[in-house]
Amino acid sequence: MARALDLARRGVGRVEPNPAVGAVVLAADGRIVGEGWHASFGGPHAEAVALAAAGAAARGATLVVTLEPCCHHGKTPPCTEAVIAAGIARVVVASSDPYPEVAGRGLARLRAAGIDVVEGPRAAEAERLTAPFRRLVVAGRPWVTAKWAMSLDGRIATSAGDARWISGEASRAMVHALRGRMDAILVGIGTVLADDPLLTARPAGPRVALRIVADSLARLPLGSRLVRTARAVPLLVAVGPSAPADRVAALEAAGCEVWRGPQADAAERLGALVAHLGGRRITNLLAEGGTGLFGTLLDAGLVDEVWAFVAPLLLGGVAAPAVIGGRGAPRIATAPRLAVEDVTRVGDDLLVRGLVAAGADVTAAAERGA
Ligand SMILES: NC(=O)c1ccc[n+]([C@@H]2O[C@H](COP(=O)([O-])OP(=O)(O)OC[C@H]3O[C@@H](n4cnc5c(N)ncnc54)[C@H](OP(=O)(O)O)[C@@H]3O)[C@@H](O)[C@H]2O)c1
Repeated sequence: MARALDLARRGVGRVEPNPAVGAVVLAADGRIVGEGWHASFGGPHAEAVALAAAGAAARGATLVVTLEPCCHHGKTPPCTEAVIAAGIARVVVASSDPYPEVAGRGLARLRAAGIDVVEGPRAAEAERLTAPFRRLVVAGRPWVTAKWAMSLDGRIATSAGDARWISGEASRAMVHALRGRMDAILVGIGTVLADDPLLTARPAGPRVALRIVADSLARLPLGSRLVRTARAVPLLVAVGPSAPADRVAALEAAGCEVWRGPQADAAERLGALVAHLGGRRITNLLAEGGTGLFGTLLDAGLVDEVWAFVAPLLLGGVAAPAVIGGRGAPRIATAPRLAVEDVTRVGDDLLVRGLVAAGADVTAAAERGA
């Protein structure tokens, strides 16, 4: 299963909104006779690739797969039928598929065909790997990763508004790699007005993210780098009911897509925007700030994962913005606490990555400790 999980990871950033899946076929003596992974959206599933690689050696063999095989006709035929036809004797599965058309039926189909099915090894790892897919299928919204760079004293800009660059070159290269596997990247209009960001992955990654600006009044300048590149890289401006019609029309004429939320309350509108993105099958959404946007997202329980780059800088200044605004937590005991996944030194910076426990069903899986 460790090998199958490694294979599955190769698909991350390439297969969404499908899950990343890996599979290995083992002969009776334990030798690997075939392996495969889901490599692209709409492409063959991991089981089909592994079975094809194994050929006749699949007869009587064990199939080890990170996710329950599908039993419905999607973009490809059902994997359960391929497994049965190949003569597999035993299937070892790490995690079930939450997809309503599968959800246990895949395993039931295999059992009904007389195949010995074992569930659960490394379930926590497999569920973590597919957490964004699970969030989209179960909650109908994307997995939200909040990423920021902050000084050692928790500021994301100086009191004069200077924010470039807080983190070092190696950290910024990691951010570009992260952007390259996202479906969408979201910022508040405050960040655009302050920093004029491009929000593209450089160098390009496996997918091109939809860039999104939360901008109630359609203040996004036509001369901003975002708007000037809107015909080449998609840009969505999420506006509110008070956005002036001429500003909206000008943005549309410049090649932007405008999403209008009728909610007067910006927090409610942000919730509706995130749900709208789920409807478009956006699996991974990267929130890049700033203070106001992070505050609303966290207050609404909409942050799943955090990437915090901490730079050895002391900015000080009472007017220098902190990372997260909003209402904030009234008490330490009830404040969201990260389930820390790793702390890495990146050049002179530290990267703290973790999951926000509240609402993150993957933490329950981690607690089961596989
Ligand atoms: N170091 C870093 O990693 C980093 C990253 C990003 C930003 N920054 C810094 O952060 C600062 C900007 O922070 P900021 O708080 O001014 O800007 P922000 O969070 O980017 O934007 C806030 C603005 O977004 C709009 N907005 C629309 N919907 C919203 C919602 N649901 N929740 C919150 N805001 C919403 C509001 O303006 P409307 O009412 O007009 O819509 C609000 O004033 C800059 O200094 C920037 O350099 C640093």
